This record gives sequence, structure tokens and C-alpha cells, in this order.
Amino acid sequence: MEERQGQDQQYRQLRHLYNAAIRGLETRLEILNGDFQSRYARNPIHHIETRLKSPDSITAKLRKRGCPVSAESARENLNDIAGIRVVCCFIDDVYQVADMLLRQPDIRLLKRQDYIATPNYNGYRSLHLDIQVPVYLSDRMEYVTAEVQLRTVAMDFWASLEHDLRYKSDKDIPEDITREMLTSSESIAEIDRRMQEIYKRIQAL
Ligand code: GTP
Ligand code: MG
Repeated sequence: MEERQGQDQQYRQLRHLYNAAIRGLETRLEILNGDFQSRYARNPIHHIETRLKSPDSITAKLRKRGCPVSAESARENLNDIAGIRVVCCFIDDVYQVADMLLRQPDIRLLKRQDYIATPNYNGYRSLHLDIQVPVYLSDRMEYVTAEVQLRTVAMDFWASLEHDLRYKSDKDIPEDITREMLTSSESIAEIDRRMQEIYKRIQAL
């Protein structure tokens, strides 16, 4: 019983810590967007979504990986307890926003996965950054890990629908449907490139 209460307390602290990381990161991104707006009269970020992984999902992921189920183990083994999705207007914006964030000297990069340069087997595109940000607590500073997913509005459109299609069906997806998803993703990527070109042409006017 006491152990259970101890675990609950640890999970509460964990949620507080990761929520603080999310808020801090969201503020940094909003400041970057605002600075861009004041310099170039344009927002590279279309919108930002955040989510804190639920205790049930944390437990399920730890079990699946064969890790101990505790707050300490979650901190140690999971990079996506804090999730931030940055939806940008154009492909170049994705890389620019990522660079601006990573140039901040107190941000540590743990892992970079470029699923835009190399999409997943089914056509998933995004730039993933697993990073650590400092969070200042009452008596100390801690580096807290977060997963930042950067993508364009077009990539987000595909990923959101694909996620719903996959998760709303409990059936195995046949290969021809996966191939169809892949070609849809390629069509969307082509439109992304065209929109980027149109933007550049308008800039050059
Ligand atoms: P994690 O520790 O789970 O992050 O493992 P990983 O680093 O190998 O996974 P990755 O960061 O590549 O992907 C994790 C997240 O990316 C998922 O939770 C989704 O949000 C997103 N994602 C990855 N692949 C797909 C996909 O095929 N479709 C969609 N819709 N989202 C995807
Ligand atoms: Mg990941």
C-alpha cells in the first residue's frame, strides 16, 4: 500500500516535470515563430500540438520493451513521454525551425530521425528530434527528454489520416493498401515541393 502511494507520488512528479518541459519547449517555439514574423512578416509554424503520454500508455510501452514498470524506468527508457508536434507551412520551414531550436545552447540532441529524406515503409514523413531541455525546479535543474516531430501541413494531413485508418481498424492491413498509402504519400510530397516552389517564385517577384 505504502509502495503504491510512493509510486503514485513519483508519477505525479513525473507528470509535473514532463509538463514543464512541454510548456518550456512550446514557449521557445512560439518565440521563434514570433521572431520570424517580426523579421520576415511570415510564420514558419502553422500550429503546435502537444501531448503528455498517459500513465497507461507509459506502462504498456515499458512492458512491451521488457523494462521495469516504474517512474524511474520511464524516465530512463522512454523518449516520448513529452511529445511536441510542430506543423510547419513549407518543407524548408521544417528544417529551419529544427535548426533554430537545436542552435539553442542549452538544448541537447539525443537522436535525429529524418523520415522526410528517408520515409517509412508506408510513406510516413516527418523530422523527429529526441532532445533534452532544462527544467528549473524548486531546488535543482533537471534535463528532461522530449520527442519533437516536425512536419508540413501536407505531411500532417497524411499522417493523421493514416494513423486513424490503421488504429480504427483491428484488421491486418493488406499489402496493396499499404502500397496505396505509399503512393498517396508520394503524391502529397510532390504537392509539398510544388507549394515550396510557388512560395519561392512569389518571394522572387
Ligand atoms: P519510440 O521510442 O517509440 O519513439 O521509437 P522510435 O524512435 O523507433 O519511433 P519513431 O520516433 O520513429 O516514431 C514514433 C512516433 O512517430 C509514433 O508515435 C508516431 O507518432 C510517429 N510515427 C512513426 N511512424 C508512423 C507511421 O507510419 N504513421 C504515422 N501516422 N505516424 C508514425
Ligand atoms: Mg522516437
